[in-house]
Amino acid sequence: MLVVLKENSKEVGQEAARIVASSLRANPKLVLGLATGSTPLGMYEELISLHHSAGLDFSQATSFNLDEYLGLPPESPQSFHYFMHSSFFAKVNFSPANIHIPDGALRKDYSAYCDEYERSIKSAGGIDLQILGIGRNGHIGFNEPNSSLASRTRLKELTRETIEDNRKFFPPGMEIPECAITMGIGTILDARRILILATGKSKAAAVAKAIEGPISSSVSASALQLHPDVTFIIDEDAAYALTQRDYYRRVLELTRKYTPEKLD
Ligand code: GLP
Repeated sequence: MLVVLKENSKEVGQEAARIVASSLRANPKLVLGLATGSTPLGMYEELISLHHSAGLDFSQATSFNLDEYLGLPPESPQSFHYFMHSSFFAKVNFSPANIHIPDGALRKDYSAYCDEYERSIKSAGGIDLQILGIGRNGHIGFNEPNSSLASRTRLKELTRETIEDNRKFFPPGMEIPECAITMGIGTILDARRILILATGKSKAAAVAKAIEGPISSSVSASALQLHPDVTFIIDEDAAYALTQRDYYRRVLELTRKYTPEKLD
């Protein structure tokens, strides 16, 4: 695991975008796993600007989003479909046929739909680079505490805390969905490489548990310790509760010296 400490959220977005861009240049057919929320917005803005200023080309890339609220149609401004299109896809040259976001439509057979989502990830060759944010309770995607560390894409019930945290994206009075369709922790761990971003003091406790705590289904992000290629990119506020910050800085310096390819 690499822990990259940055001064602020802008630098977190720039570092994540730098890695996505270099992965995409190395492999134009990159399969990306994408996340919503306020944290990755800076990364998307930076990628859009690299598309315009440096011709970063998404035309052959494929994407799979982590999750979607249950019961929100794609045209709802609160849906993750809307978020992804308005914040990113509409501003770069991603081919619409290559974009996959779980469909939050109400249906009868969720498990058949979710199995199909899993199959489409497999038939695209699996996810090369997964982007994640983290919830205050340590969730990744919408894998709330006590999600199985082997879970796959499925319908998940949201905690009160998550519903309240995401209230900021909903107009006053609008009912917030109580469930979502989310990739599972097992799905996420199958990605070849994972970048997890966190900014702000409100994430410090979750980040410390994910990086330095025991692996536990109470903190979904701690399962990332099982993955061989995970990079945490976090700002000073989110790193606040980590006890080994100096060591992480030294690891980074030594990585730059001996195995710089790991940072690209
Ligand atoms: C939601 C999303 C997560 C995201 C989290 C944190 O619950 N399902 O993927 O990481 O919120 O969001 P924010 O970045 O806005 O703090």
